[in-house]
Amino acid sequence: MDLCDANVLVTGGSSGIGFETARTLIKAGARVAITGRDAVRLQAAAAELKAHAIQADVSVAADAQRMVDETVQAFGSLNVLINNAGFGSFAPLVELEVAEFRRLMDTNVFGAMLAGQAAARRFIAQGQGGNIINIASTAAQRGFANGTAYTASKFALGAMTECWRAELRIHDIRVMQVNPSEVVTGFQARMGRQQDADGTKLRAREIAHAIQAMLEMDDRGFIPELTVWATNPN
Ligand SMILES: NC(=O)c1ccc[n+]([C@@H]2O[C@H](COP(=O)([O-])OP(=O)(O)OC[C@H]3O[C@@H](n4cnc5c(N)ncnc54)[C@H](OP(=O)(O)O)[C@@H]3O)[C@@H](O)[C@H]2O)c1
Repeated sequence: MDLCDANVLVTGGSSGIGFETARTLIKAGARVAITGRDAVRLQAAAAELKAHAIQADVSVAADAQRMVDETVQAFGSLNVLINNAGFGSFAPLVELEVAEFRRLMDTNVFGAMLAGQAAARRFIAQGQGGNIINIASTAAQRGFANGTAYTASKFALGAMTECWRAELRIHDIRVMQVNPSEVVTGFQARMGRQQDADGTKLRAREIAHAIQAMLEMDDRGFIPELTVWATNPN
């Protein structure tokens, strides 16, 4: 697609990968709405990006529908959803708390489903195709110690991606998945972890670049899944 024709909704666009993706797509000519729950951070990000801000929690069904409605109101239509809002939580199985597992699934899985559903309904009603990019992770490809909740959420997102692709291709909707390995963002800090940003790790910019390339391919084709690794991380 030509990004000058793109009306985009980026969930979790107030920080990290979503923020950089919004910046990259706006620079390429797209109109972009970003969401987040923290109003102060969201407004600051939107002002910097010249994006449309929508305060919303993806795990709340009414918010997911409102995000799509407000994007259409602002831009006239919607043709790209970047399903990016998500967070991490890591604990060994023997210490894992069910409430925390559910909280993670509420955003990373149910939130992604609700946003995908609202966007897909809109795309079908418009009758002009559409694009959904689900931001999964290399944790959608293999399990590891302490990863029960997070890998389960990202494997589930990968499974939903395959199902949506099978259902929506007939409507000219391209359903794609991006699997970043570790990226320097606020992701680790939100878990109280320090991230070693030593200059070898991926930046959000590399992921945004991959997303731009996927969208810019002519609509007759699409990249179902794309994994991004750092070349030589420490
Ligand atoms: N960083 C990595 O190493 C890495 C690697 C692979 C995949 N990923 C994935 O990439 C995505 C973005 O992560 P990031 O690294 O950019 O993290 P980040 O910097 O912490 O950004 C997360 C964004 O999501 C928003 N968010 C979180 N929960 C939300 C909810 N329930 N409703 C609406 N917005 C919500 C946050 O804003 P509020 O908190 O204000 O709502 C923020 O804008 C996530 O899905 C993550 O799993 C990250």
